[in-house]
Amino acid sequence: MLDLKKYGIVMWEEEKIGAFRRKLLAWYDEDKRDLPWRRTSNPYHIWISEIMLQQTRVDTVIPYYERFLDWFPTAADLAAAPEEKLLKAWEGLGYYSRVRNMQKAAQQMMADFDGEFPDSYEAIASLKGIGPYTAGAIASIAFGLPEPAVDGNVMRVLSRLFEVDLDIGVPSNRKVFQAMMELLIDPDRPGDFNQALMDLGSDIEAPVNPRPEASPVREFSAAYLHGTMDKYPIKAAKKKPVPVYLQGLIVENAQGQFLLEKNEAAGLLSGFWHFPLIEVDEFREEQMDLFEAAEPEAALELSPQESFEQDYQLAVDWQELIFPRVQHVFSHRKWQIQLTYGRTEDREHGAAAQVLWLTPEEFASYPLAKPQQKMWEAFQQARK
Ligand code: ADE
Repeated sequence: MLDLKKYGIVMWEEEKIGAFRRKLLAWYDEDKRDLPWRRTSNPYHIWISEIMLQQTRVDTVIPYYERFLDWFPTAADLAAAPEEKLLKAWEGLGYYSRVRNMQKAAQQMMADFDGEFPDSYEAIASLKGIGPYTAGAIASIAFGLPEPAVDGNVMRVLSRLFEVDLDIGVPSNRKVFQAMMELLIDPDRPGDFNQALMDLGSDIEAPVNPRPEASPVREFSAAYLHGTMDKYPIKAAKKKPVPVYLQGLIVENAQGQFLLEKNEAAGLLSGFWHFPLIEVDEFREEQMDLFEAAEPEAALELSPQESFEQDYQLAVDWQELIFPRVQHVFSHRKWQIQLTYGRTEDREHGAAAQVLWLTPEEFASYPLAKPQQKMWEAFQQARK
């Protein structure tokens, strides 16, 4: 067992721990949010909710969760799902590697666990995409095992309760909070205990504008009692996402179909369909390389649109529509997209990529990532 004193943390006596559990759980019983995944102990359902909740807020998750279970009611359905449908189910949530990993985990369940969700912490944690937090959440909520589920919310709550002088953004500090939770967690109601801390952390103990005076456990909170709430949790500022400038091309043919292409590169948004995008700096760099290598005039005078016309062998009549800039922030990148709209009489194209002409009704059933949805919305607004 980790020596908490070494980290400046004085754990409470048994009696105080007991009182804390009672207070917290009484509040949870009274005030807990009624959420669809709290009306079940099906581990497959709880797993899906937990992965989605790592992406976004509870209100946003509910419709995604319900549709996901409708489309993939069991691990067998998820294991066999076609890629396009899988991405569609996650469209707009971001971090698509998560849903790909979920499919791999479902395949592991089929291959190694007779199609059942495994019921021990170690086996749950052996599934693809399931880290210590998710394994703890599923083990405690679905199986009643006394396993902590330590995420940013829980670390924030504990930091304030104990005035923990450790940066919660530093991964190696997580083990300290894990050790604290192993002592605090109620062995009789571990799932409720974990979820009570989650509820506390997402509302009363929120990162901004907390309401510590409304906390059911305020008399246990060292930061509240000592007036140091503004100091905890300790967290170094994050690096800003790097801006990336892109030109987005919305090209329509005479049949009212739009050109969409599949991103077949590995990495960000792999497998998604998108309007052609040209990264402006990269494009200029390539032009400079061409300029150095050979045909100077031809190379430097090309605009991204002209280069697109060459690459796709399309003649496009670019329109003078003004679009507001479309922005989308990923964790490390901030995309800034300038849209251009063009019409073409051509239907054939010479693109090497997988490209389709689709009507808006048709592409609605293709996985389009958030920036592409925003591009489409901006386009519709501007055309009105
Ligand atoms: N956030 C992560 N897991 C949660 C849960 N089970 N209930 C509410 N919020 C959560």
